[in-house]
Amino acid sequence: MAKNISLIYSKPDEAQKLEIEKYYLGERIPAEKKPYLTDLKNGIGPFLPTQKDRYILDGSSQIATMGLGFNPTSFFGVSHFYEAWLNDPSSVDFQNLRKSYEQFLVRKAGWEKGFVHFCHSGAEANEIALGTCYASRFSPSQKKVLAFEGSFHGRMMVTLSATYNPSKREPYEWPSFKSDYTDWPRLAFDHKSEGPVPERWKELWENAESPSFEVHAKHFESESEVLKEEVRCLKMLREKLKTGEHYAVILEPRQCEGGDRYGSRRFHNAVGILCHLYGVPYIYDEVQCGYGLSGEFFWHRLFENSNSRGECVGPQFVTCAKKAQLGVVVSRNKIPFPQEFATHSLIRGYIQAMVMDQSRERVYEIENYVRPLLRNFVKEFSEDIENPRMQGLSYSIDFKSKELCDKFIAKRFENGILFYPAGNSTARFRLNLGFRPGDITLLFKEMSQTLSQAKGSPAEYIKEAPSFEKNLEELWSFHTDEVVSMLDFKAPSKDSAIQTTLQFLESHSSVRKAGLRAEWIDSANFKKFESAILDLEKSTYEPARQTSSQEFNQAVSSEGGFGLALFKGQELVAICFNGNLNSFSTVRGVRRDPFFGSSKAYYALDLTVKKGYQGQDLGKALKMASFKAIKSLGGERIQGRNRDSLAGPMLSINLSMGAYELNHLIEDYPDNEKYRDCFYYTTRVRWEKPRIRLSSGVTAPLSALQLSKEFVDKYKGPLLTKICLSNFVSTDYLNNLKTFSDLLPESLRHSYTTSGQSECVDKLIKSLWTVRKHERLLTFEGQYFGAGSNMARSLSGYSASVFPVDRLKSPFDVSENETLQNLEKALKANSYHSVWIEPVGQKTMKAWGPELLKKVLEACRTHGVPVVFNDTASMFYRWSEKHFMASSDLVPDAGYCYLGGQMGVTFSRKELFVSKPLEIISTWDGDEYSLAQFSEALKFVEADKKSYFDLRAKFEKKLVDFVTENGARVAFLNRGVGVVEGGLNLKLQKYFMPLGECYRNKWAVIPSPGEMSRFVNQVSYD
Ligand SMILES: Cc1ncc(COP(=O)(O)O)c(C=O)c1O
Repeated sequence: MAKNISLIYSKPDEAQKLEIEKYYLGERIPAEKKPYLTDLKNGIGPFLPTQKDRYILDGSSQIATMGLGFNPTSFFGVSHFYEAWLNDPSSVDFQNLRKSYEQFLVRKAGWEKGFVHFCHSGAEANEIALGTCYASRFSPSQKKVLAFEGSFHGRMMVTLSATYNPSKREPYEWPSFKSDYTDWPRLAFDHKSEGPVPERWKELWENAESPSFEVHAKHFESESEVLKEEVRCLKMLREKLKTGEHYAVILEPRQCEGGDRYGSRRFHNAVGILCHLYGVPYIYDEVQCGYGLSGEFFWHRLFENSNSRGECVGPQFVTCAKKAQLGVVVSRNKIPFPQEFATHSLIRGYIQAMVMDQSRERVYEIENYVRPLLRNFVKEFSEDIENPRMQGLSYSIDFKSKELCDKFIAKRFENGILFYPAGNSTARFRLNLGFRPGDITLLFKEMSQTLSQAKGSPAEYIKEAPSFEKNLEELWSFHTDEVVSMLDFKAPSKDSAIQTTLQFLESHSSVRKAGLRAEWIDSANFKKFESAILDLEKSTYEPARQTSSQEFNQAVSSEGGFGLALFKGQELVAICFNGNLNSFSTVRGVRRDPFFGSSKAYYALDLTVKKGYQGQDLGKALKMASFKAIKSLGGERIQGRNRDSLAGPMLSINLSMGAYELNHLIEDYPDNEKYRDCFYYTTRVRWEKPRIRLSSGVTAPLSALQLSKEFVDKYKGPLLTKICLSNFVSTDYLNNLKTFSDLLPESLRHSYTTSGQSECVDKLIKSLWTVRKHERLLTFEGQYFGAGSNMARSLSGYSASVFPVDRLKSPFDVSENETLQNLEKALKANSYHSVWIEPVGQKTMKAWGPELLKKVLEACRTHGVPVVFNDTASMFYRWSEKHFMASSDLVPDAGYCYLGGQMGVTFSRKELFVSKPLEIISTWDGDEYSLAQFSEALKFVEADKKSYFDLRAKFEKKLVDFVTENGARVAFLNRGVGVVEGGLNLKLQKYFMPLGECYRNKWAVIPSPGEMSRFVNQVSYD
């Protein structure tokens, strides 16, 4: 059945608006959300779902986060990873996926060798790249970042200083830590109209130190106004670099927030040449531009930065976020900081990366379709707008008057569309692959209506959008059923595969709609269909991809091998064949497959849909049916090969079933087609029981124990869709946030949400700065505040600290008196911005005593210095019988909890809280699914506190016995938190992770409540 789409229009729904506004009372959170509540599982194509089945046509693709639109088929694959549901990166499958992803990213950067570092956000990625440059600078005089006028690199402390816009930056910037800026060419073109790289241009910049430089530069300056402007900017860059003051240069391939301002290929090549000449590493910030927005996977690869000899003068770092769904740093050398990230976001980003990369041609098709529409739109309103520009999926226009631009933006929601302003008076749009031609036409119609209304015409609203054939409910139902069937982590019982599979297939909407009949093929009846099958192959594929008769025979005669066929009357229209992997030892890639030899691995030999029947989801139906059949037959894995780009749609379907690439076979298809690489993939059809993790209670609060059918059903929407919580929230999200916030003392119920603990640090530093303008912090040795930003690393004590932090001796190494004396001395000697304490240490597992903490709070209060607690490890009653530190009688001035995954929450007194909307934001402000994981764990504990405390006592006893029996020692253990010491035998190793980075043979004990229970209730330890 077609799905109809009704747009929001006119005024927001009052009930939704009121529900959100309740949370603004008492300034619990800044009043900055859009007045629509989301319902993420209903999102489709470019349509952002709000409650009551009304949609917004999202022309911003949620600020470039969604490359494929809402709930694209491939994203259902995320739900096939228990690692995603549980934030568990420890499994072999996840590690394999991650490895293949890293290799993919390095390949896309065009590097022979490289490393990939994952983190929580775009700003974190940049802070990590910049911090690495700072740590490896060769002179202390290199103190500054060099950024470009018009830049945007995030809102953490160093990235904010590298963000040009004074209104964003100045209220929070520390005067001694400012960045330097150099001009970006003031030109309004896109890559299509930018003109060529002139001859001897590269030589000019390579010889920037030559005495004849000025003479040669003049030659270009006189050639055109455009070149004159570029030479002016590049000369300025040259002067800046000559000073030797900079430890890094950071730039976007195209400035996005700054107003979609392009830099020509000429310009970028010269930047690369100059940075190499002066030995300053440079970073391409592809947070918004990357992952296929331009058509190229990395936008900067369009420039082919090289010198006159053709040698690469590329960047040392490439940073991404948005479509990557978390922060990514691709670097030439290994980055020495710990990595913290959410597995579900990594998997979503992986799938998005794969599909975007397969869809280059489609991106250019969309670009070609949009260009004339954009030209006509600008022609229609030529009095008011100018400079249409476009690359790949993004386009923008400039308004001649800022006032009209603001009005245009203000009218977007009432016309049911979303896009954002940029720069001074630019409107920018980001499309995605979920847009169909009809949706694009609608967007342009809506843009015209909106602009006419902004100019004073009476309102006319379009209420309906093109409907969808895609059967979203069927997709949810299939994938949810499959996930739920795996929740017991047992091998499924074998059942009557043939009957159930054929029934499933014939009831699939695509098969019913086309009026097809399904047949099961095996060795007994193969001959009957053989010639029709071979004809179908010939009429569908180029010779290198046609499956031979011998291979079909191999499939059906192998153990458990079978085929599925769809017929229209007597006409064969689609087939899907799977055989035992071991029968395909001569297929390239199979012998390198670690599952080769396993009798339970299948090889997906062939899926073919006849021309004329393609694009109707028949392939998807056959894949789903095969998945079910293989499971019923007792299979565990499906392996297969997909040809780069030519089999792109097939790869998407495989990804939707949880496939990931196991091996990338370069130049594997021996013909002259454009794409010849092969993706060799694997798919699991059942889950192994996840191992019990006793060190991961902070990052992964949800345990396999709580992964129920109800939970899956409730949170499958946010598992798949990452929304910008800075703008759009759901009822579940608000409720979960309130449950957390209610645990806080009333005076501290003023919060920002974040994507991780470092973002908590930077947000608090900024909001406290508004009342305490001191550039020095105080903390104690051994305390941890994250490693994702330069401020967090400075506080956590990483080498090459960018910001000044005084670190007093650890209270666990000296007496209480000495600690207090040291503190008093420091507070008298300096004016501190704030004092930072971790009541239970994530890297030491040690808890501060209440008496000492009370005295520390008093001393700081006497000196008027705010105290901030990192209450991350103290949650779940790990510090006292109160839920976490800040809920006890010892109330700090501010604090934060990292809730695991990609979610943190800050809290502070009202006087220290900046409540002005959109001031202390980031793109995502956290992650709805991560909050759900935490909330479910919280519910488990709060449902019956006494039972939880009993469980904890049992856990402690059993742990001591188990560790001792296995030859190690529990050094200490309080309230379920402690340290195990000694070399761990293989039995023990499975449970623990090392404590901190520098304690040898010490292992952290900090399980989530659910993992405690799994440990207590398990019968054997193998
Ligand atoms: C180019 C660029 N860099 C960095 C960022 C910061 O990313 P995040 O908000 O995820 O920290 C953004 C966000 O819009 C961006 O556009």
